[in-house]
Amino acid sequence: MSERTLVLIKPDAVRRGLTGEIIGRLERKGLTVEAMTLRTMDVALADQHYAEHVERPYYPALRDFMIGGPLVSLVVSGDEAITVVRTLIGATDGRKAAPGSIRGDLSLSNRENLVHASDSPDSAKREIGLWFPEFAL
Ligand code: PPS
Repeated sequence: MSERTLVLIKPDAVRRGLTGEIIGRLERKGLTVEAMTLRTMDVALADQHYAEHVERPYYPALRDFMIGGPLVSLVVSGDEAITVVRTLIGATDGRKAAPGSIRGDLSLSNRENLVHASDSPDSAKREIGLWFPEFAL
């Protein structure tokens, strides 16, 4: 079943010049980029995007990292895109992510871990609505 998911290429990836590498991996898998913007997140959007995490002890570090530079936001679609993209990205902590995954190959951190992707259909709907209201499902 074709699905849409929200992907953020985080500021560390943009800074390291990995945007093309990451989009290339998504496209080579057969996924489609339907929308893409380069922008810097503000605190209000960070708090909305990470609403489930704002009370967590790591949230201030996560927020400051995410607002610290431009990121690329994408709507990505394809068959079972939500699960497929999460698998391509790998586990949260780049030190533990499987080789072959984006984080497993390119990250050594659970904060500077290059990519965010929606983790469920409900998250995808909510996050796409925040970043790309014109795509609201
Ligand atoms: S959970 O509880 O399973 O949803 O949490 P998890 O997926 O592991 O992490 C959620 C997001 O929080 C980020 N994270 C951190 N950021 C900064 N510092 C620390 N210590 C830290 N631990 C987790 C993690 O990168 C996840 O970001 P997203 O954008 O959702 O991938």
